[in-house]
Amino acid sequence: TAPVRVALLGCGTVGSEVARLLTEQADELAARAGAPVELAGIAVRRPDKHPELPQHLLTPDAAALVESDVDVVVELIGGIEPVRTWLLTALRKGKSVVTANKALLAEYSAELSEAADAAGADLYFEASVAGAIPLLRPLRESLAGDRITKVMGIVNGTTNFILSAMDSTGAGYAETLDEASRLGYAEADPTADVDGYDAASKAAILASLAFHSRVTAADVHREGISRVTASDIAAAKALGRTVKLLAICERVTADDGAESVSARVHPVMIPRSHPLAGVGGAFNAVFVEADAAGELMFYGQGAGGAPTASAVLGDLVAVARNRVLGGRGPRESAHANLPVRPMGQT
Ligand code: NDP
Ligand code: HSE
Repeated sequence: TAPVRVALLGCGTVGSEVARLLTEQADELAARAGAPVELAGIAVRRPDKHPELPQHLLTPDAAALVESDVDVVVELIGGIEPVRTWLLTALRKGKSVVTANKALLAEYSAELSEAADAAGADLYFEASVAGAIPLLRPLRESLAGDRITKVMGIVNGTTNFILSAMDSTGAGYAETLDEASRLGYAEADPTADVDGYDAASKAAILASLAFHSRVTAADVHREGISRVTASDIAAAKALGRTVKLLAICERVTADDGAESVSARVHPVMIPRSHPLAGVGGAFNAVFVEADAAGELMFYGQGAGGAPTASAVLGDLVAVARNRVLGGRGPRESAHANLPVRPMGQT
């Protein structure tokens, strides 16, 4: 069978782990995908800074790599432009896209999904929310027959790492943030984490999938942790509570029966006996409530190179298999019409 040729855009914290696993597990991946999954090129900003990578694969020209003879584009650069343009180009040419880019998806998932649908291409983005945890595909596929009423949890590893350290060891905010960056948990600009933008993007993605709606980051009420102090943490402790940054997405029914979606991100004091209180470090945990299924809990490593690469590779095997067998992955609802509740009315 002809190999599935992959363009890797970005080879930093996550991309380097994807490249490593693609090479080390080539035989297993080929068996699962039904064809060899071949790394055809790697785009980075500074090829000279990557002596560890096969030099013949490296290029600073991501646009040309996307246009080249590749079947799948794996995007691990981040940010909106020029990545949005590159991914739209790939999808319009019928190439499958796998991305971990929550900032992009929270703004442009409708446009990207429409481009994918029009060209019959796959758009997979499991790694964009909650790192290694299989969460988006359960929402898109396993729970597609149920009626989800609430999605709530810890979806940012960096802030959970900081809050957990402040709670358990009394560590300072700034030093713990530095450590989260060093460990590869934080975004390139960590204010995206501490000011709640990253969690708000993830909440938008979760709410869109769970409620078959179109929620963008701007629809999400957002408050980060930069104003949480050591004395707030101590006060919570004295009350038998701890502080967690939660994303809360709900289906809301008004008195007249009209339904809408509400999404918010903010610090919450939760009882220490609550299951989310025990979620430490850069781990994430998300509760999903659905009419028939009842309550489900998803838990695991929410950030970092290898855990995120696990989710990326799962998507890569899925899109490669779809190409080999001629199928397509889950599609967003063509009738995404549940309105979003204006901010401030949560
Ligand atoms: P890094 O900053 O570690 O890596 C970014 C990579 O993109 C680098 O290799 C960089 O090149 C390359 N790059 C940047 N600009 C360009 C450009 N114009 N052309 C070509 N290459 C470029 O980011 P992460 O790996 O941490 O994150 C990547 C994506 O994954 C982001 O969308 C992030 O939000 C998401 N994500 C990250 C997680 C994490 O735990 N880190 C978890 C889940 C999602 P160079 O190496 O030369 O600088
Ligand atoms: N910066 C993100 C976090 C990476 O800390 O959760 C995972 O999406």
